[in-house]
Amino acid sequence: MCKKIVLVFFLWCFLLPVFSQDIYTVSTKNIKAKIPSTLWGLFFEDINRGADGGLYGEMVENRSFDFPKPMTAWDEWPSQRLRDGIFVVTNQITSNDVNPKYLSVNLQPTDTVGLINTGFDEGMAFTKDLPYSLTLRYRQTMPGVHIRAILLNAMNRSLAEVSITPSNKNGWQEQQIHLVSKDNAAKGKLLIIFEGAGRMDVDRISLFPTDTWKNRPGGLRRDLVQKLYELHPGFLRFPGGCIVEGNTLDQRYQWKQTIGNIDARKTMASVWSDRIGQRPAPDYFQSNGLGFFEYFQLCDDIGASPLPILNCGMSCQFTEAEVAPLIGNGGLDPYVQDALDLIEFANGDSKTKWGQKRISLGHTASFNMKMLGVGNENWGPQYAERLAVFTKAIKQKYPYMQIVNATGYSRIAPVFKYMDSVLRARKVDIIDEHFYASPEWFYANSKRYDQYDRKGPKIFVGEYAAQSDGVGSLKNTNNLQSALSEAAFMTGIERNADIVSMASYAPLFAHVSGWQWTPNLIWFDNASSYNTPNYYVQQLFSLNKGTGMASVLSNGKAIEGQDSVWASAVTDQSTHEIIIKLVNGSSVVKQKKMEIPGLETITGTITGIWGDPKTVNSLSSPATIEPKTKNIYTDAKNFVLDLPAYSFSVVRIKNQP
Ligand code: AHR
Repeated sequence: MCKKIVLVFFLWCFLLPVFSQDIYTVSTKNIKAKIPSTLWGLFFEDINRGADGGLYGEMVENRSFDFPKPMTAWDEWPSQRLRDGIFVVTNQITSNDVNPKYLSVNLQPTDTVGLINTGFDEGMAFTKDLPYSLTLRYRQTMPGVHIRAILLNAMNRSLAEVSITPSNKNGWQEQQIHLVSKDNAAKGKLLIIFEGAGRMDVDRISLFPTDTWKNRPGGLRRDLVQKLYELHPGFLRFPGGCIVEGNTLDQRYQWKQTIGNIDARKTMASVWSDRIGQRPAPDYFQSNGLGFFEYFQLCDDIGASPLPILNCGMSCQFTEAEVAPLIGNGGLDPYVQDALDLIEFANGDSKTKWGQKRISLGHTASFNMKMLGVGNENWGPQYAERLAVFTKAIKQKYPYMQIVNATGYSRIAPVFKYMDSVLRARKVDIIDEHFYASPEWFYANSKRYDQYDRKGPKIFVGEYAAQSDGVGSLKNTNNLQSALSEAAFMTGIERNADIVSMASYAPLFAHVSGWQWTPNLIWFDNASSYNTPNYYVQQLFSLNKGTGMASVLSNGKAIEGQDSVWASAVTDQSTHEIIIKLVNGSSVVKQKKMEIPGLETITGTITGIWGDPKTVNSLSSPATIEPKTKNIYTDAKNFVLDLPAYSFSVVRIKNQP
């Protein structure tokens, strides 16, 4: 009888194997704790065009002329202006500060004029034969204006054209029409031509593809949501990130301004428009078309537990660091009330004001929100004081709500120590820790949670990403080395899943030309998107989350970098499998002897990524690094695993009785 693996899974590369005598012993005898269903989740923020120009399907930038510079992204056509006064921006801010601006079009009999919008960043992407849904919100103040809408490619060739006869009814009207593109175009644009004689006010010009996620009108980009869905996330943290805080309190994210009728959602400044000096984005604003209802709906769609993060009465402490007063009506009360109302909005029934609001927006069932973050990267005594007020009010009304508490921006900053000790003394529910550090740091810190107090608060690793060039460097790439170091760190999280209950890579999305921050999990342009090696690491952990903590030990010790290998193990009760995750961070193949006491035969699969540590994926080469799977079988008690140089492998083995 053969005592070796019958099908040796794969010699992943041609480097010389290094055989080590250590035996890796996998044990499923003492399941220390269940793996939390929330363990691997997502951090979403509207940074790098994550929402407007990204996940949110709107193709027209500044669709309602409400940017501070109201003609941002719009060009007049023809470029040589016929005369002044044809297009006039009208600002009704004194009567409507939510949707203040519209464009008045004044035509004389022979006028043929237009407006061109090139969309976000590099132009609109059109797909052959796909219908696009154009919506116009207008009112005719002197009937007689006719409209033509045209999709153009980069060479100004018409891809689709429709004529629109506006309604002569009084007041604001909304008209929707489809245009079917007769070709693909990468850098297209929308041209709206006005002709005839008359006057018209135009408040919104909007264009969506019809193939949005779940075909929802005005919905999200299907390819990008699909990528989130395929991560099977345990939770979704939204809407950030720094945008929760704003540079000033005036600019903070306010969820109530992001629900309901899109014309009643205020266009907001984005902290990302000017935060990164070398990559300014003066046209970065938030339309809030992707608002809190859509975030909760997205959670439902992708099976993620919702984790909203709210402003704690403090603006970004890196910039203006404003605080709301602790007392009085203009004080913290409105902020706390927003938190209480949000819980009612998510979970309340039809007898409650905000539950009724949710139902009126089309979601009868509760969104089943169980967690709420108070503050993003906040710290110091001012935060501690405000957090206490929030906590008391929330726990009084909703004792079941798990509160996520911030510890600032860095694990090495003194602010972390201060907040950590305050939060531990208060015995809070969940502490949020953020790590942007070198790959070496991630490798070295797989041990971080081994010593944490098992009876203390749960840990949420709310933001982390290995920085290949330097922390905050614009030269950081999503290379394989960064992904492997995160995988090593994640084996440490998995080994400590009794106290680390959630973790999310950050940031999630980036437009290849509209980004401010790097690295990011998923990159896209206006037509397509690709997964990074880091994405595949997240996915391999998430799809192989398991249900119970098992152990894989070498000489009785956790495998935390000895011989440049990091490992963890779980069981999966539903499939009766043992799942082992192994990172080889070295430049040579490692052969590791494994034993799983109690198993007579080893049947399963091994899935992995490996390659040159500097390798990246890209739009033109999206699959340079992607997981590959092989079957494994042996009737040996001890078997040998080949771990390719620079690799991450997930082994799933049938656990016979
Ligand atoms: O992930 C990018 C930014 O990093 C987040 O907005 C902020 O919370 C952190 O500093």
